[in-house]
Amino acid sequence: MGSVLILGATSSIARACAEVFASRGHGLYLAGRDLFELGRLAKDLQIRFKTRVEYSFFDITQLQSHASFFDEVLSRAGGIAGVLMAVGLLDKKCSPLELILANFAGPVSILGVCADYFAANKKGFIVGFSSVAGDRGRRSNYIYGASKSGLTTYLQGLRSSLYPYHVRVLTVKLGLIDTKMTFGANYPLFLAANPQKTGLKIIRALDNGKESVYVPMIWRIVMLVVRLIPERIFKRLKMQ
Ligand SMILES: NC(=O)c1ccc[n+]([C@@H]2O[C@H](COP(=O)([O-])OP(=O)(O)OC[C@H]3O[C@@H](n4cnc5c(N)ncnc54)[C@H](OP(=O)(O)O)[C@@H]3O)[C@@H](O)[C@H]2O)c1
Repeated sequence: MGSVLILGATSSIARACAEVFASRGHGLYLAGRDLFELGRLAKDLQIRFKTRVEYSFFDITQLQSHASFFDEVLSRAGGIAGVLMAVGLLDKKCSPLELILANFAGPVSILGVCADYFAANKKGFIVGFSSVAGDRGRRSNYIYGASKSGLTTYLQGLRSSLYPYHVRVLTVKLGLIDTKMTFGANYPLFLAANPQKTGLKIIRALDNGKESVYVPMIWRIVMLVVRLIPERIFKRLKMQ
């Protein structure tokens, strides 16, 4: 079984996915900014699943490092079977440019490098974590939402462009999930989904050959309704 590259491996949703990959015998390559946490995570996965786990520093905003980072992944993991792109940033203290870099430009850059590799090998899979926030611009988070909307469209185009090469691309539109990202924020957290269950649903969608999924599924209906609200009414709503 080939290794799976996990970008943003400290995300609790990504961890849940990593555990499923490891339980199936895949090797793992964990990437992120927190080397201490990655090391802890790698050891835990190695012990529990007796699989090979590599890890290294990766900052998605350092676009110029992406090609050499990917070369290092290939040489240390000996090739990869797929990539799960979980990186995302939602922080009111960040500038619009930082949000666009972390949520859109960075993912486009690194997934482009991965896509070339998979296309050349005529196999592989890409899972991209997008957001329901990309389905409609809201006053509280429209830079994040616009970046995720761009990512959703990018993944859609990538899916078509990789189709002739037998490379699958899964877009995951996540609703509200109880993670570090939403901790302490002004969300109705009783509505937030469990990150472990979310990870399992993502893997199930990948297994079932889905192209785009809402997780949890209820968000498909919620966003259908939200998108149907006329703009002249929507812009007046305070709870957005
Ligand atoms: N939780 C939700 O309700 C929700 C809803 C919709 C979509 N999502 C998406 O789901 C994904 C996972 O988020 P999460 O909820 O699990 O939150 P999280 O724990 O904050 O995960 C975000 C991940 O992105 C990484 N990251 C952020 N900036 C980075 C950078 N410059 N370079 C490399 N890695 C970086 C973080 O690593 P560090 O440990 O280094 O910060 C972390 O691993 C994100 O793409 C998010 O946008 C989440």
